[in-house]
Amino acid sequence: MPKKFLEFPAGFLWGAATAAYQIEGSTRADGRGESIWDVFCRKPGATEEGANGDLACRHYELWESDLALMKDLGLNTYRLSLAWPRILPQGRGAVNSRGLDFYERLIDRLLALGIKPNITLYHWDLPQVLEDKGGWASRDTAYAFEEYAQAALTRLGDRPALWSTFNEPWCVANVGYGSGSHAPGRKESPQVVNQVIHHILLAHGLGVQAIRRHSKSAQVGIVIVPVVPTPLTDAAADQEAAEQHWQVENDWWMHPLLLGEYPKQVWAWKGANVPLVRDGDLKTIQQPLDWLGLNFYFPNRVAGGGSPLKPRIVRPQGVATTAMPDWEIYPPIAERILLEFSRRYPKLPFYVTENGAAFADPEPDAQGRVRDPARLNYIREHLASAKRAMDQGVDLRGWYVWSLMDNFEWRFGYGKRFGIVHTDYKTFARRVKDSGLWYKETIKAGGFEVRGD
Ligand code: FCB
Repeated sequence: MPKKFLEFPAGFLWGAATAAYQIEGSTRADGRGESIWDVFCRKPGATEEGANGDLACRHYELWESDLALMKDLGLNTYRLSLAWPRILPQGRGAVNSRGLDFYERLIDRLLALGIKPNITLYHWDLPQVLEDKGGWASRDTAYAFEEYAQAALTRLGDRPALWSTFNEPWCVANVGYGSGSHAPGRKESPQVVNQVIHHILLAHGLGVQAIRRHSKSAQVGIVIVPVVPTPLTDAAADQEAAEQHWQVENDWWMHPLLLGEYPKQVWAWKGANVPLVRDGDLKTIQQPLDWLGLNFYFPNRVAGGGSPLKPRIVRPQGVATTAMPDWEIYPPIAERILLEFSRRYPKLPFYVTENGAAFADPEPDAQGRVRDPARLNYIREHLASAKRAMDQGVDLRGWYVWSLMDNFEWRFGYGKRFGIVHTDYKTFARRVKDSGLWYKETIKAGGFEVRGD
């Protein structure tokens, strides 16, 4: 079988991603306030087996060895998030310097190791005190976010880093306030969900301004989880449904962010459920950005016969999936999403800020080896697909595997393992899985071999 080496450009950023609540633990340490996830996890039935982030991976205690592990893997970038409740335990007002001390140590060590920090301000852990005042349904939360960004950047803004305001705001609005299966667990009306979206967008704009006010070196972006509509068949009705799904779920975010307006057609479809938008909001939302982060995991197969706001999403039978219910494995999404974003929106440099897979890994064997060929394959095939987009001119600058290590997977608790490093939840030992060893080799070689046709 002929082989071909896929070579990535010099300077490509090779990373892995995590989020504060999913790995840190120490939820009561050093003056941290309560987050909506602390409270949500206490609700009976909210998470599998009542799991919570109290311990998670104990990264708050084990951060030094975790950073050494990243260095050993050869990562030249690491995507992390800051916990707002550590920095502003009351949501706004008094700054808790001990919370910032932790992140300052972490970031300085990363820089010393030659690992570029990519820092997300909001990866879902809103201070509970702000949720008690309405959460993202309240416009005030956007101004609180601005204060939080200001507090973080005042202390950390002189370090060279990539910064993003939000991780997957789609999930914050639709899963946190729509279906309610994420914190804060609210099942609100479509109008409220659209209002939540608007407040998050406003917070993003205010946040970008705050970052720029307090940092000269920050490269600022946002991390989006685009829906990946894929027509079920070539039939015109399926294609049209997929296009409408794209507009409703992706344009609804990207147009305000990049063009300063809500898409007119989608606005009309939403009818009476559109958000209240004040004069000047869209101007605030449309901030110049330095990069765009894209997270993707699986396609949405769309068939005709639904409506723009209620498309028919079909889970095809007999396709390969990961351990996440219905997450189909379909690597061409990487090329597709990168090409579509380049084609549809004003061009920005891209980073793939999350891609990876959960599988039911075997426990480490007697030698400590964790064989996870399915994950290795998933990562390799998605990277190869992204490379095809790069070969067509897409400006992709880096890649972050989700996740560095097995961690607290939100409502699924600890049962879903996404890491390229295995976490032993009894001893908290980390063991690099086969996929992690492959990633290490890939980083060292600047690429990897695939079958050449
Ligand atoms: C993404 C989240 C991340 C993780 C992965 C599996 O939606 O951003 O925290 O849960 O999914």
